[in-house]
Amino acid sequence: MIKAASLSVKYNSDAAALENIGFSVSTGERVALIGANGAGKSTLLLSLIGILPPAEGELMVCGIPVRKDTLGEVRRGAALVFQNPDDQLFMPTLEEDIAFGPRNYGLTEETIQIRIAAVLEELGISHLKKRLSHKLSGGEKRLAALAGVLVMEPSLLLLDEPSSFLDPRSRRGLISILGGLTQTMMIATHDLDLALSLCGRVILLRHGRISADGPAKEILSNKVLLEQNGL
Ligand SMILES: Nc1ncnc2c1ncn2[C@@H]1O[C@H](COP(=O)(O)OP(=O)(O)OP(=O)(O)O)[C@@H](O)[C@H]1O
Ligand SMILES: [Mg+2]
Repeated sequence: MIKAASLSVKYNSDAAALENIGFSVSTGERVALIGANGAGKSTLLLSLIGILPPAEGELMVCGIPVRKDTLGEVRRGAALVFQNPDDQLFMPTLEEDIAFGPRNYGLTEETIQIRIAAVLEELGISHLKKRLSHKLSGGEKRLAALAGVLVMEPSLLLLDEPSSFLDPRSRRGLISILGGLTQTMMIATHDLDLALSLCGRVILLRHGRISADGPAKEILSNKVLLEQNGL
């Protein structure tokens, strides 16, 4: 589902934000991406959907090499929920925002309405359907952004800090929804309990490099390793 080899990623002409990264993710795997602030988690997720193309190395996502001319194909298979929901929500109302993606792919209006209703119900935000996106609370925006991606039913789900801003009940709801999905997932998070309950595997980043990659139980119970990595 994902294959990265000797991958380096840069912002403009600055030093590499990711350097010489190599890993593979199989179909159906759920991988947590952890690491201190600035370690490169968001950068890696942005590169997986081609917002930041590789400066060096190779990157395959959903069987497609990530390049300028393949971005449409890559994004039909993989979708990212951004760390900041304001980067994601841009239509006036929540309902229009969630409908935007499916309309773009030419689904029938009936299918779109059925999917939207199901996703809103699942996330417990049906009552927000007609509300203005930019006037929602932080947690409501987070759930709205998630709805906009889930409605597309991507085969690779990339989530950047999905539990930030959420109250305890919404957070538990989110964990249970994600736990019920069969899609391949990569979840960047500081919420190590969420990582442990959802992901069998953890990739730990430090200064743009992979400093550990292995079973979640082992890495998340290794206090020395976590402390060394600023967690
Ligand atoms: N738009 C940008 N332009 C230049 N450098 C950037 C940009 N965004 C991030 N960086 C730099 O890239 C590095 C990795 O940042 P990234 O946002 O990937 O970290 P992160 O692990 O997601 O951190 P956090 O836990 O704070 O979300 C940092 O050094 C950061 O300062
Ligand atoms: Mg980040």
